[in-house]
Amino acid sequence: MSASTPIRPVLPPDIKARKGGVPLVVLTSYTTPMARLVDPHCDIALVGDSVGMVLHGLPSTVGVTMEMMVLHGRAVVRGLTKAMAVIDMPFGSYEEGPQQAFRSAARLMAETGAPAVKLEGGVHMAETIAFLTARGVPVMAHIGLTPQSVNTLGGYKVVGRDDEAAKVMADAKAVQAAGAFSVVLEKVPEGLSGRITAELSIPTIGIGAGVDCDGQVLVIDDMLGLFTDFRPKFVKRYAELGKTADAAIADYAAEVRARTFPAPEHAFPDVLKAKP
Ligand code: KIV
Repeated sequence: MSASTPIRPVLPPDIKARKGGVPLVVLTSYTTPMARLVDPHCDIALVGDSVGMVLHGLPSTVGVTMEMMVLHGRAVVRGLTKAMAVIDMPFGSYEEGPQQAFRSAARLMAETGAPAVKLEGGVHMAETIAFLTARGVPVMAHIGLTPQSVNTLGGYKVVGRDDEAAKVMADAKAVQAAGAFSVVLEKVPEGLSGRITAELSIPTIGIGAGVDCDGQVLVIDDMLGLFTDFRPKFVKRYAELGKTADAAIADYAAEVRARTFPAPEHAFPDVLKAKP
């Protein structure tokens, strides 16, 4: 590619066309600097509603608002040149029905520039997904564990063992038939996610769903080890940035207290020395 060739951003049809190919790489992003780090390496930067727990200290994603998603969505889109932004529709912004969902999705897309949204739910959201996709809103579906329903599910459990497997398979087929361009499988047992991946013609993106999915997604703060106290089984830590940051902050605090920071090289002299 020549230096003048413009980089074309990834779009939903490109993601759909990747079914069965090189696995899709997806990470969450919530800020412009994080999006800039994710952009060269990932196909999708997901502005997940996990932002509520990760950056705002909320106990679940239930309290996340449209305003938060617009703010973080804009910031992420500003940091991307190649990867595609997908924005989560927050709890309460789409469940009433297709019209409410369209208004919310159109606002998220118009105010952030993201070309696609993600929403949680299978069979019961199929009508809404069909309504959105028929009207120019590309939808990534999210089934299995759907964190916005934590209060009815009773926790962040694996979904799809034993009798539940047929329901998760039906959800996957329903969102595909409704026009979703891809589907996230969260905390679905690996055998089932493999069968769903084999039966669907749209890509599956797994989180805690084993290696057979068409792609993988993780929350970026989890895989960078920014939390010290949160270690779900499905997260591999590729770095320990939380420990690195803790050590750096401790060093800074000690140096400020000892008056060894700032050193002369960090200060500005009163008089500029004339150059010889
Ligand atoms: O909100 C989020 O980060 C997500 C991913 C975990 C899939 O939905």
